[in-house]
Amino acid sequence: MTAGLDRAVEQLQERLGGAPAEIGVVLGSGLGGLVDELEHPASIAFGELPGWPLPGVLGHQGAFVSGRFAGRQVLVQCGRYHLYEGFSAAAVVRPVRLMARLGLRAILFTNAAGAINRRLEPGCLMLVSDQINLTARNGLVGPAEMGEVRFPDMSAPGDPGLAEAARRTAREHGIRLEEGIYAGVAGPSYETKAEIRMLERMGADAVGMSTVLEVIAARALGMRCLAISTITNLAAGLGSGRLSHREVLETGARARGALLPILAGVITAA
Ligand code: HPA
Repeated sequence: MTAGLDRAVEQLQERLGGAPAEIGVVLGSGLGGLVDELEHPASIAFGELPGWPLPGVLGHQGAFVSGRFAGRQVLVQCGRYHLYEGFSAAAVVRPVRLMARLGLRAILFTNAAGAINRRLEPGCLMLVSDQINLTARNGLVGPAEMGEVRFPDMSAPGDPGLAEAARRTAREHGIRLEEGIYAGVAGPSYETKAEIRMLERMGADAVGMSTVLEVIAARALGMRCLAISTITNLAAGLGSGRLSHREVLETGARARGALLPILAGVITAA
């Protein structure tokens, strides 16, 4: 893994050039809008990095794009590897390890999630205050990578300073920013109504199919993290209709206008 990561780092630096990135941003389903706002963008597809497969879900591009945003040099990861595509937990966290190797000290994760808590509505944003890893996997299994803590503390996955910057920005822009606990599941099927009742009793406010393993890896590497969910649908049994990936993408795209200023505020403060 280490030699492979070193080669990927070299290739990325060669292709993207420019000033070293300070902050990483991982964009989830239908949330790709940030790349259009980057100044002096340069990009490389995951598939161009040695040994990196192309992720394959509609709405996920699979590329790193560097550029300037909100006065900082950022590295945006458009799309991610998911367990439900058949990728290993180690493959899911490889981009996080790459970002750490590039020297990034903070990473913002975005994702799409279904609302469990009745307070949450499709189109609103949720600052992830804590997470529950229900994937039964962990990307750190295996030899610890350079710079990684073997048994990372997970009692505070989100960085308090970044969370406060998100709250402040939301207040300043009049954007609704809820807070809650994100349960990460493996997917790809959406949950049954019984599973949603179970998740609710566990204390989850929203559910999605990503992010939890990446946050664990980032914490093991000592990176400051913040995750923000776009609530794209009511979880199974809480709305009237059936769940569809198209609905998730469409609602995600609609929430983009609220997500961008929050990301800008957090990036400026990071
Ligand atoms: N369940 C799981 N993952 C999701 C959902 C959901 O309802 N919405 C968006 N991602």
